[in-house]
Amino acid sequence: MSEYQKLIDGARGAAESSQNADELALARSEFLGKKSLLSEAKKGLGKLEEVQRAEAGKELNEVRNLIEEVFEQREAALQEETWNLQFESERLDLSERLESLRRGHLHLITQARDHLEDVFVGMGFTVAEGPEVETAWYNFEALNIPDWHPARGNFDTIFVNLGSPEEVMLRSHTSPVQVRTMENQQPPIYVVAPGRTFRTDNADATHLPAFNQIEGLVVDKGITMGDLAGTIDSFVQAFFGSEVKSRLRPSYFPFTEPSAEFDISRPDGSWLELGGCGMVHPNVLSNCGIDPEEWQGFAFGFGIDRLVAMRFQLDDIRELVVNDARFLRQF
Ligand code: PHE
Repeated sequence: MSEYQKLIDGARGAAESSQNADELALARSEFLGKKSLLSEAKKGLGKLEEVQRAEAGKELNEVRNLIEEVFEQREAALQEETWNLQFESERLDLSERLESLRRGHLHLITQARDHLEDVFVGMGFTVAEGPEVETAWYNFEALNIPDWHPARGNFDTIFVNLGSPEEVMLRSHTSPVQVRTMENQQPPIYVVAPGRTFRTDNADATHLPAFNQIEGLVVDKGITMGDLAGTIDSFVQAFFGSEVKSRLRPSYFPFTEPSAEFDISRPDGSWLELGGCGMVHPNVLSNCGIDPEEWQGFAFGFGIDRLVAMRFQLDDIRELVVNDARFLRQF
């Protein structure tokens, strides 16, 4: 029995030290193969007498079973090790990829534009659009600014070399969308029109030659300056919060009468000039085929970039177009 026990221990040692299937197969044949001690012992059984043979044969079988079990266990352990190694090497660590890829976001101007649209849509307006390249009719004439009018000079217009001189231009404000809307749509009209606008300004801390405005236009019956002031006030509070106030100051635009400029209050109590507004001039209504005796309206327009600069306390508006990712990532 102690001979057999040695054999079993030896088999266990050989199995444990086998590091792969090939080594294990080799060790297995050493202990269980045709030339193994066990097989030799089995051959020797024939020399024994019948009673002893049965006894010894039974013992031999038990030992063989035990040794087989030792090798099976080791085989299962090695198999698991192999699988673990394979799983480890084939594993795709997706969480790591998610971490290393940086997610972008909408540009500040786009965020502000979307927010403005949401606020006005919430107040019952729809969103209108117009082209960035305009004719003199839409950018000036229909807006009650004939070619002799000194106000044309205020717009620092960028003209396009097309048609007769100063006939085609990059729109210098979003007000041409007022005209296009009234030409295409019968009142009542409640629209806002955000979009890019262009002037010959040199870029500096407070100016960009390509900038963004949002235009508002209401045409309905019995509309007054009070509706205009109330709309601006509601918008300002919805956009900035209820602590921000708005005020109108008398001004002049050829396409509104009376006209005003509107300001909003800064936290320090000073006022920021945001845009222009007024009651739609009767000439503009007639130019667009709307009877000014029957319909009245108001319009307003202001710069989105300036609004963004105030909201995020930018001290140089050019940051918005430099596209420095380190700047943009902050918001
Ligand atoms: N279009 C004017 C500007 O760009 C602003 C404005 C719009 C004024 C509508 C009155 C009414 O300065």
